[in-house]
Amino acid sequence: MAGGTDMIFNPTPGPSPTNRRGESRAEPPSIPMGGPRGLKMTAPSAPHSLVVSNIEVIYNSVILVLRGISLEVAPGSIVSLLGPNGAGKSTTLKAISGLLRSELGEVTRGQIVWGDQRLDNEPAEEVVRRGVVQVIEGRLLFRHLTVEENLRIGGMVYQGGRHIREDLQRVYHYFPQLRALARRVSGYLSGGEGQMLVIGRALMAHPQLLMLDEPSLGLAPMLVHEIFAIIREINRQEGMSVLLVEQNARAALELADYAYVMEDGRIVLDGPAEQMRENEDIKEFYLGLNQAGGRKNYRDVKHYRRRKRWLG
Ligand SMILES: Nc1ncnc2c1ncn2[C@@H]1O[C@H](COP(=O)(O)OP(=O)(O)OP(=O)(O)O)[C@@H](O)[C@H]1O
Ligand SMILES: [Mg+2]
Repeated sequence: MAGGTDMIFNPTPGPSPTNRRGESRAEPPSIPMGGPRGLKMTAPSAPHSLVVSNIEVIYNSVILVLRGISLEVAPGSIVSLLGPNGAGKSTTLKAISGLLRSELGEVTRGQIVWGDQRLDNEPAEEVVRRGVVQVIEGRLLFRHLTVEENLRIGGMVYQGGRHIREDLQRVYHYFPQLRALARRVSGYLSGGEGQMLVIGRALMAHPQLLMLDEPSLGLAPMLVHEIFAIIREINRQEGMSVLLVEQNARAALELADYAYVMEDGRIVLDGPAEQMRENEDIKEFYLGLNQAGGRKNYRDVKHYRRRKRWLG
């Protein structure tokens, strides 16, 4: 596994937090008043776009998983990557974030360009330093540490941790529940709270591009709606781009500006989210609706008509 930032954003599950329960801890810093305008935001550098061109990824030197993926995330936009299990969605994010290496994967063809710099096969910590942060699937936290300690660790990678105090307030502004849970041991959080914490921890690193892998997994629809609304708010207020991998196509297409559909290591369809919501294949296959607007059983869908292949 590569250096420290891997561990910060993707810790392995820790020991049970039981023995830490009830320990007294220092009070979290007092909360300044003033809402978003009162918060001190660090000015972002010129916004970058992410351009992935025709990448191939091979695991263990033999297994070809991505077969020429091309996609683009314009500065400040929210882009969703949809597709069935095993399509290669997580692999695509890991190729961008540099986390592939720790899984013996490699980008063997094509390029990943962020602003004017190549990211393909850069170490994960360098990618984070350049403002591209991935929240991996599974809400991995330092389970024996408190909510605030998890956030503080996320803040260490940004300018040597010099902005942690104001960034904690920034994260608590977006996720008020986390403020209330600041001293709670994170191993006891609910699924929704844990999801808020992993996103909050990533925000502490000041991403210009936040990549989320299935944040809705296992959450009730109301909670998905709430978390996606917060992602939209952060995107609007901070101009942060988002690349969102989702199985929940309905929620993802409501949030996203643009979407790509992947199957078997290739992009098979893409377009503005509002067009995708109206696309008959998407409705049938991912939203479970037939033309009359009723729900359709997936088993009834015999053929998924591939209208477009992006060969990069
Ligand atoms: N470390 C690895 N070594 C070998 N093969 C892998 C590795 N990681 C993933 N794969 C394979 O690559 C393919 C794509 O996996 P990936 O996890 O990217 O899919 P996904 O679209 O994210 O699926 P899901 O929706 O189930 O999360 C799968 O066939 C998977 O078995
Ligand atoms: Mg995945």
